[in-house]
Amino acid sequence: MARRCGRATSRFTGEIQTYPRKTATSASWLCFYLLLPFAAEAGLYTTSDQIILLTPENVESVLVNSTAATVVEFYASWCGHCIAFSDVYRDLARDIKEWKPALGLAAIDCAAEENRRVCANYSIRGYPTIKFFHAFSQADSSGASLRGFPRDVSGLRHLIINKLETHTHNWPPACPPLEPTSQAEVDRFFETNSVQHLALVFEEANSYIGREVTLDLLQFENVAVRRVLNTEKDLVTKLGVTEFPSCYLYYAGGNFTRLQVNFEARTFYSSALQRLPGVVRSGKPPPVTTEVLTNNTKEPWRPFNRSRVYMADLESALHYSLRVEVAAHTVIEGQELVSLKKYIAVLAKYFPGRTVVMNLLKSVNSWLQNQQGDEISYEAFRAMLDNSAQSQNTALPEGERWVGCQGSQPHLRRYPCGMWTLFHVLTVQAKSMESTDRSSPDCKEVLSAMRSYVRSFFGCRECAEHFENMATEVVTEVSTLQSAVIWLWSRHNRVNNRLAGALSEDPNFPKIQWPSPEMCAACHTVETNGDHKWIKKQVLSFLLSYFSSDRILTDYLEDESQVLEKQREKHDSRQKALEAQKTIERKVREASDSMMHPLASQSTVQEEDEGEEPEDETVADEEEEAGEEAAAADEIGGKTSEPTPWGKPEMELVQGPWRPHRKPSIVGMRMREVQEDIVDLDSFVNQHYKAKALQVAASSRVKQRTLQRKEEQEPGPVFGLGMELDTGLGMVGLQPMETNFEQDVGQRRKRLQKRELNGQAFGDELNHRGRWVSVLTIGFSKVDISLCVILYVLSSMCLLAMYLFFKTRFRLRRGKAILP
Ligand SMILES: Cc1cc2nc3c(=O)[nH]c(=O)nc-3n(C[C@H](O)[C@H](O)[C@H](O)COP(=O)(O)OP(=O)(O)OC[C@H]3O[C@@H](n4cnc5c(N)ncnc54)[C@H](O)[C@@H]3O)c2cc1C
Ligand SMILES: *[C@@H]1O[C@H](CO)[C@@H](O)[C@H](O)[C@H]1NC(C)=O
Ligand SMILES: *[C@@H]1O[C@H](CO)[C@@H](O)[C@H](O)[C@H]1NC(C)=O
Ligand SMILES: *[C@@H]1O[C@H](CO)[C@@H](O)[C@H](O)[C@H]1NC(C)=O
Repeated sequence: MARRCGRATSRFTGEIQTYPRKTATSASWLCFYLLLPFAAEAGLYTTSDQIILLTPENVESVLVNSTAATVVEFYASWCGHCIAFSDVYRDLARDIKEWKPALGLAAIDCAAEENRRVCANYSIRGYPTIKFFHAFSQADSSGASLRGFPRDVSGLRHLIINKLETHTHNWPPACPPLEPTSQAEVDRFFETNSVQHLALVFEEANSYIGREVTLDLLQFENVAVRRVLNTEKDLVTKLGVTEFPSCYLYYAGGNFTRLQVNFEARTFYSSALQRLPGVVRSGKPPPVTTEVLTNNTKEPWRPFNRSRVYMADLESALHYSLRVEVAAHTVIEGQELVSLKKYIAVLAKYFPGRTVVMNLLKSVNSWLQNQQGDEISYEAFRAMLDNSAQSQNTALPEGERWVGCQGSQPHLRRYPCGMWTLFHVLTVQAKSMESTDRSSPDCKEVLSAMRSYVRSFFGCRECAEHFENMATEVVTEVSTLQSAVIWLWSRHNRVNNRLAGALSEDPNFPKIQWPSPEMCAACHTVETNGDHKWIKKQVLSFLLSYFSSDRILTDYLEDESQVLEKQREKHDSRQKALEAQKTIERKVREASDSMMHPLASQSTVQEEDEGEEPEDETVADEEEEAGEEAAAADEIGGKTSEPTPWGKPEMELVQGPWRPHRKPSIVGMRMREVQEDIVDLDSFVNQHYKAKALQVAASSRVKQRTLQRKEEQEPGPVFGLGMELDTGLGMVGLQPMETNFEQDVGQRRKRLQKRELNGQAFGDELNHRGRWVSVLTIGFSKVDISLCVILYVLSSMCLLAMYLFFKTRFRLRRGKAILP
């Protein structure tokens, strides 16, 4: 038996403690999450429970004149019996999920003020009360009370079947016939029905299996189920039935065969029948054969073994989550930063990857854990992911290459499938590394990381909501590393149950309760009442072997050397692009220098905009010098010292506020140098040209986006700047957190500016600079900015030329200067 885990609860429940310095921040984030609708729902049930939550608004449409019969639980959220019963009711909802078109489950919280009138209308006195509403009930019907109802799932299920059979007229249209069949009916069956399979469940009169299986399959086409009593002598002798219950498949022409199952029980019949050839869920396209897939999908179909785990899926999931999903956050701060740190830490610790990938995860992890700031920019994180420091043997392969997670359509499976697989593998790794880990293991570590990753980053917000609803149980239910493995498996099955038949279900990969009896016969058994039961011990050993690192297949993986080569090429081209940009910028600067200097001696006012404070001449001069010096330093430093566009902010973060080749000077100086790329924008005046330049920049951005696709993140130099401000002045954490809820970039930028305002040493000049920078860099890359600069310089040179031209002409003509 496994050891109990230490420091577990604190780690999982109190995420605050993992990050003590930021308690205030985390606390406010925690509040933020509590305010989200999914974090706290008042009643005993949530939208994830497959139970219709009744409200005064929907009660009529659900109960009156409905085509399905409905069972309603009237409860009070404070009542102890109701709380105890809610688990049973939830299990029931999952158990009879497939009956939905014929029978729905609903619940209403009578303790909620707004529901009082509804409960009063149905004369509810005690809690919980369960009522059965027939299909097509009238508005004045108050339902049939199920007095003394059983408190277990199978008892309730049987009671519901009894109630369904009381429909005298107005039989729910979706509900198949439930009465026993006869030889005569079976003989005529194929004359009137075109289904392929007729399943006959032979049973005794008091058995419910036949009816349950019938209802379990009501959403499936090409199969019909009838119950046959053991007293139906003709059929029993014709098929030679000796065992009750047993199930036979009967075909047109009188052929029949026994359905082979591990146990003669409802669940085994139902799942076997649902997977018969030709049987499909209504409304779903039939499964496509692999041949068709091979010919039709854009990417070549990669044949794979369905009972194996592929490293290609895990790496693809990593790529997608880190380069696409996390990239949606230009700045990662607060709870998100905590989530990212936990996620990366768990990956670095447990991901059973190739050496190159592990090297990368470890370097990202040690970098990330060293980040002391409140926030990091995605850019800086991305630079680490892309190994911009070019460490040896370190890379995370780019791109998606799904194998076991391939879908029959491009929108099916893939990433979410990869994510599930990844976390199963991680929980299993954590368990198998238990013996080597001397310290008291934190058994909730992986699940906690998964939970916070899903909450902070998982793109499917609805999934995150459902997952969060479940994840709250981790605290009480997981106390060992193996219970973490089991917990994730069982919750994944809950999700499978909920999603069976949903739009996201791939017809080729139907959602089943996993592993199927074919995959793991030993995992399944039946209880004395005939209900299905998992043998958890067997499931655990199955999971430990299925997801174990030495069984992961490496088919279709890109070669390590290839991965490294690609990374190097990408790095080089990025480097080249950067250098080209530098050269252009330098040329522009030189050109503008030669234009500006004669002008500076004359008048400085002409280039000032209405809104801007006039700039001091000496400041402008200093600036030029600094710019030149920086450019010169770049030359000397050469290639190696030059960070990549992505690497740049990272360098700033890692090495602190001072870049090695910069002249350390007064604070004001530093600020100017940092913005070296955008230095000329300060005196950027002409509205017309500004608009034009922005337009061009924007259109080039669009082009860039379409070319580079989603993976490419948006570099925003302003964040590097912001970070530098923070670290440089030790202002981290000084920012009051009243602005917790701001999510959008604009708001964050405002906050960064606010911080700038705090640093009064910078004075107004800096602030208006910051404003400009913020306005101009929203959504633009450095390339855009430099385009702006070029355009601006060109246009101002043009203006200048015109100005000089006219000046000299007027001077010649009239002998005196005229100001424009
Ligand atoms: C945290 C999370 C929450 C999600 N919530 C939703 C949601 O609310 N709504 C929605 O539409 N989609 C949701 N999804 C996506 C959905 O669960 C599936 O991932 C997606 O539909 C793809 O399904 P799939 O057929 O590839 O199998 P998946 O369910 O993704 O499973 C992947 C593979 O894991 C194995 N597996 C299956 N069941 C188990 C199990 N119980 N234990 C261990 N291994 C198993 C199988 O080999 C399977 O092929 C969620 C995904 C995640 C990661
Ligand atoms: C009930 O629904 C049926 C069809 O669903 C419809 O024909 C009938 O008019 C409805 N009756 C009332 C009272 O709404
Ligand atoms: C798929 O293509 C191959 C040849 O490329 C062909 O032989 C085969 O019949 C095709 N299969 C289908 C289902 O179209
Ligand atoms: C798939 O993997 C399972 C388990 O390792 C193995 O028993 C089976 O033979 C494999 N199937 C194929 C087609 O390789």
